Parts: sequence; C-alpha cells; structure tokens
Amino acid sequence: QWTTASIVEDQVARIRQQIGAGRAICGLSGGVDSAVAAALVQRAIGDRLTCVFVDHGLLRAGERTQVERDFVAATGVNLVTVDARERFLDALAGFSDPEEKRKIIGREFIRVFEQAERDLKAQGDYRFLVQGTLYPDVVESGGGTGTSNIKSHHNVGGLPDDLQFELVEPLRLLFKDEVRRVGLELGLPETIVHRQPFPGPGLGIRIIGEVTADRLEILRAADAIAREELTAAGLDRDIWQCPVVLLADVRSVGVQGDGRTYGHPVVLRPVSSEDAMTADWTRLPYDVLERISTRITNEVAEVNRVVLDVTSKPPGTIEWE
Ligand code: XMP
Repeated sequence: QWTTASIVEDQVARIRQQIGAGRAICGLSGGVDSAVAAALVQRAIGDRLTCVFVDHGLLRAGERTQVERDFVAATGVNLVTVDARERFLDALAGFSDPEEKRKIIGREFIRVFEQAERDLKAQGDYRFLVQGTLYPDVVESGGGTGTSNIKSHHNVGGLPDDLQFELVEPLRLLFKDEVRRVGLELGLPETIVHRQPFPGPGLGIRIIGEVTADRLEILRAADAIAREELTAAGLDRDIWQCPVVLLADVRSVGVQGDGRTYGHPVVLRPVSSEDAMTADWTRLPYDVLERISTRITNEVAEVNRVVLDVTSKPPGTIEWE
C-alpha cells in the first residue's frame, strides 16, 4: 500500500543513492511538476540542489513572486533567477507568426538555461539535472498533451537535451494527481500545487500579433482580473484553464463616458477538459462573465471589448496560437 508519505520516503532514498555527494540543477517553470520534483530533490540533498528560474517576461502577474518568495519559503531551496526579459523582447521583435514566436521563445530559453548551467558548473560539481517527467510523459514519449505535431511545444521539462548531465526524474512513476499529493505532503503552497496548466511560451502565444512590452502589460492586467474573478467565484477546480487572449492587431470602436474609444478586444477562452487532447468550452455563469467584462473594460484602459470563445477542441485548439 503506497501512501503519499511512503512515496516521498522512497523517492528521497532513491535520489540520495543516485546523486551521492554530487550536485544537481533543476529548472523551475512555476508549474507543479518542476516544483514538486525540485522539492523532493531538495529534501534529499539540501543545498547541493540549485534551482534556476528564467524570467522570460512572458509570465503572468505574480508568477515570479510565487517562485521567488512562496516556493523558496516552503522549501528553503537555493534559487537563481535569470532576468531575461529584455533578451526575449528583443528576440521577438518584428515576429507575429505563431510558429516563429514559439521557436524563438524555445531557442532563447535553451540558450539562457545553458548559460546558467555553465555558470553553475564553473562553481561546483553539478552533474545532475532534475526533470519533472511524469508517467504519462514516459508512456506517450511525445510530450504531455499529444499536440506536438500541431504546435512546436516548449516546456521546462523537455530541456535541454544535454548529455553532460545525468537525469534525475523522481516523478517518472507518478500521475498528476499523485504529484499534487506529494507536493502537498512536502508543504508546497496550494497556488503552486493546484496551478492550472500554463504553456511554456507563456503570454507570448496569447498576444495575437507581435509581442511588445506594452502589449504584455495590457494582457497581464486583463488576465489577472479574469483569474481573480474565477477564483473568487470558486471556479478554479471546475475549469481546466482559461486563457485570456489579446487581439493586439484588432481595434474596435467603443464609447466610454463622453468619449469615443478605439481599443483592443480580449478573448476569454474557458475550457473544460480531462487531458487537453479534447476540450469543451466551459459554460461560465453569466454573472461571473459580467464581472470579468466590466472590470477589464473599466480597469484596463486599452481594452474596450471582452468576447467569449465558444469553440470546442477540436476544431479549435485551447490556445489561440
Ligand atoms: P492546445 O492549444 O494545443 O494546448 O490545445 C493543449 C494544452 O497544452 C498547453 N500548451 C503548452 N504547454 N508548452 C507547454 O508546456 C507549450 O508550448 C504549450 N502549448 C500549449 C495548453 O495551455 C493546453 O493546456
């Protein structure tokens, strides 16, 4: 009979055996898998683990704090944050094609992460790389969502394909629900353990058009409001995720107070799903939709229209890009 406590105990023993007196690196994405994998390894080898968190500037409001403050407070982990916001914005300038944007973000991410690895290797005997690979990833061996043939996927778990490291994969035998239980057992905050899926390329693929600092700020503000209202309505566990998408190249006429506005629409894309392979649009309560719409148009000056995506997957994918 495997209890969560015995899974933790068993994995900690295995990690200790594998790593011995060596040192390990773990890339954190802000998501649950990498966080739980890191927390397990931290429990096993303490400060011989160093976590690397790349801020690519495509994160949602509060996500960097969640890692830097809450995850560190819960685990005591050594954390290196690489602030690569400028670099990603520069690399993305002038590109609006979804696949091009995905490839640029993936490429830059690998470069930044590899530089962080080299820096650490210069400081100590870092021979191990921790990855949050889950059992379904192992079985499908094509990545968690099965859509990699449609979109070029990027996530921290798939990086980098580096032969100079021995991989440590403490979640290899676990399903997502078990990973969440292990996370709670290890004392990780609910906000991390129950975080909804968020794509590796982040807000970069939720701005339809070129990614700029101004557009990111608009989308971040709208997204924070939608998430706040969904959480306040107690809907977080009922929906799989709710991307908020900025139609940055589209403008429409509106009226606010006495004035004409010419702003951008944002799209709400609430979906219900078991595994992201198929999805249905979530019938959110009208009063929740109304609060989100009113607040976004009142509080985010550049947005004068909120629209709802009522497409299932297929034919629509969950993300717009
Ligand atoms: P789509 O848009 O293909 O998304 O229906 C299916 C699920 O995958 C997430 N997604 C990603 N996750 N890296 C990730 O780690 C990616 O590049 C990526 N692209 C999409 C998406 O949020 C949804 O949950």
